[in-house]
Amino acid sequence: MKRILTGLQPTGNITLGNYIGAIRQMKELQDKYDSYMFVADMHAITIPQDKDALSKNTRSLIAIYLACGIDPDKNTIYIQSENPYHANLSWILECNTYFGELSRMTQFKDKSSKHANFTTGLFTYPVLMAADILLYDADLIPVGIDQKQHLEITRDLAIRFNKKYGDTFKVPEPFISTTGTKIMDLVNPTIKMSKSSDNPKGIIYLLDDIKSARKKIMGATTDSEMIIKYDVENKPGISNLINIYSALTNKSISEVEDEFKGKNYGEFKKCVADEVEKLLTNVQEKYKEYIESDIIDVILDKGMEKTIKEAEKKYKEVKEKVGFKR
Ligand code: TYM
Repeated sequence: MKRILTGLQPTGNITLGNYIGAIRQMKELQDKYDSYMFVADMHAITIPQDKDALSKNTRSLIAIYLACGIDPDKNTIYIQSENPYHANLSWILECNTYFGELSRMTQFKDKSSKHANFTTGLFTYPVLMAADILLYDADLIPVGIDQKQHLEITRDLAIRFNKKYGDTFKVPEPFISTTGTKIMDLVNPTIKMSKSSDNPKGIIYLLDDIKSARKKIMGATTDSEMIIKYDVENKPGISNLINIYSALTNKSISEVEDEFKGKNYGEFKKCVADEVEKLLTNVQEKYKEYIESDIIDVILDKGMEKTIKEAEKKYKEVKEKVGFKR
């Protein structure tokens, strides 16, 4: 059975973009793959975090996974920082990564430009991500398009290590679905919908109040053409809403265009808002149950034990190959 693996950062509230780009895909694939899903709390501290908020958000993200339909019987669910081998492998990989390669990462350029003082962790972030993946011989990595460059460097590092030290790592493939790979901000549809953006009107959070989420969809920026057609360049707002609707209903872009031929933007937005409401209502009901439940600790203990055992085996192999042995 092929293995899929992905992680999300527990920074702030999880967005509709995170759901569509990563969680939804994991949910759809979990019956057919051996699935690994973790919370990337070590990636979160690449930018300053409040310690209480970080631990609260970490637990909350596990409850969100479960509420979104990630089945703990079909997935290995764990927290990155509970397994020391992620950092251990990351160091060895860092010593096989070039400064120039990391300097070219667009997410690093983007994030570092927003902080006067940024950490070296922000710079080496993609190498830790490579370690997250390579430790477990994952085949496919479901992510949004913004993570594609990080997966390319992961592949490069695996190939480089295998060449230098002999076959060690499986070379993973990104798994980026055809729709919803980049959900855009509702107010400014030329930028990504992002947890860290400062205008909440442009972002749907999975735990948003339903009324306010509907309002955000109804108020989304569109254009004056009154044609519901997918055209990212000229109609970014409408294209984004088509993407959201398509992802939430599992309809293709052209099916959505056909469904709304001749309809006005208000009618279309109402249907998008209905789908968002359905998702949020369902997720929030289940979230309330999970966040209070001890099941989270049971799942995490199991995930931690299993992944430490597996990662230890892989790390031992790597360690010996680089000459860390007596
Ligand atoms: P993070 O927490 O920034 O985002 C989590 C996932 O959500 C996707 N995503 C989106 N997809 C579509 N539209 C959007 N607007 C949108 N915003 C975010 C991201 O592509 C991602 O899949 N580095 C990763 C976490 C990570 C990881 C890994 C992922 C750490 N190690 C190993 C996969 C494998 C991150 O920061 O994701």
